[in-house]
Amino acid sequence: MISSPSTGLRGTFRVPGDKSISHRSVMLGSLAEGVTEVSGFLEAEDALATLKTFQNMGVNIEQLGEGRLRVHGVGLHGLKKPINDLYVGNSGTSMRLLSGILAGQSFDSVLQGDSSLNKRPMRRVLDPLSLMGAEVESTEAGTSPLNIKGHQALKGIRYHMPMGSAQVKSCLLLAGLYAEGTTTVVEPAVTRDHTEQMLRGFGYEVVTEGNVASLKGGGSLKATSIDVPADISSAAFFLVAASITPNSDITLQHVGINPTRTGVIDILLKMGADIQLLNKRVVGGESVADIRVKSCQLQGINVPEELVALAIDEFPVLFVAAAYANGATVVTGAEELRVKESDRIQTMAEGLQSLGVDAQATPDGMIINGGSVSAGEIESFDDHRIAMAFAVAGLRAEGSIKVNNCENVSTSFPGFVELSSSCGFDIQAL
Ligand code: S3P
Repeated sequence: MISSPSTGLRGTFRVPGDKSISHRSVMLGSLAEGVTEVSGFLEAEDALATLKTFQNMGVNIEQLGEGRLRVHGVGLHGLKKPINDLYVGNSGTSMRLLSGILAGQSFDSVLQGDSSLNKRPMRRVLDPLSLMGAEVESTEAGTSPLNIKGHQALKGIRYHMPMGSAQVKSCLLLAGLYAEGTTTVVEPAVTRDHTEQMLRGFGYEVVTEGNVASLKGGGSLKATSIDVPADISSAAFFLVAASITPNSDITLQHVGINPTRTGVIDILLKMGADIQLLNKRVVGGESVADIRVKSCQLQGINVPEELVALAIDEFPVLFVAAAYANGATVVTGAEELRVKESDRIQTMAEGLQSLGVDAQATPDGMIINGGSVSAGEIESFDDHRIAMAFAVAGLRAEGSIKVNNCENVSTSFPGFVELSSSCGFDIQAL
């Protein structure tokens, strides 16, 4: 992509569906009894990888177009042994959540990812799964492919997670559906709770108290209907884009504002952003709102550590916001950024430095002294959010920013270039 300075962003529009909720709608819909209707599903590579995986395990999932799915659930014990390895592409959520589900099946399976996912840490799920009695083999480095043995009798555990990760929590809760007794997960910090919320929507009891979630194995899920809101993680690019681009005023419709996801709004508000939440409502158990954002001069802040897990996917674009803010922005407690689709501390610090920004990577975050951003050429390291963050950086840079290797934008945000041009980005796909 090549992104050039813009004179202002305008418009009212909806970004694609929430990735986390889309994955879970297919997983739980497949494991439920009855037919689950889904609308607003994210038709992008990551969520479609999950969909394909369940189709490969014998689930009939009708794709009705425009984000509508009809999932014919097979019940917790109705999945069939897949003929081939299950390939989930770039999607860490698919791999980690599926490893929990597959550990409870009566057949063996193999989970495979693309070259980037096959480098990401899987011991974080394999260690607790083995405490539950699962048998999963990884490479020596603790990475995929994962060979998962079926026919294991799982038992519930109480697990203190060493890192804040909704994927690990969700993996264990999903394995817990198949375990004898209670599975309890204690998190060091609250992370997104879509698995817990959606399990409840499917009539399964999950008890949560602060950062402790537990459920008892042996129940069943009842089909329901799911309206997937627009993804706040995709909306985040526009929240920052409109904030930093003079003469901007945009409204993002029907965005999910589950309180475990709204760290990006809280952080931008602390930086002085002009953001309003309009028409707040609850749809299918998830809070949604229309978000209006206008341009303004942002200020640097020390980002409170308790907001980090609630904004974990939004840091690439928040670093761009910091590059345009007055003064210093300091992020700490965000070491998880190093094990995302790329090492997002390193890739963002290097990219910003190459655009003349005073950005210093630290082991668990970054220190950015805001100022001007020059024109330049950036590597995305095949990371969708790095690519889109630098496209946003181009809106107010001193010239064009060229971002290389943007194919993976389609893992989470199909149509990014078209949607951003329609609201005033000066952007070209390459
Ligand atoms: C996700 C959890 C987060 C997030 C990812 C989606 C989920 O990962 O970064 O994009 O849907 O549960 P971690 O659990 O590794 O923090």
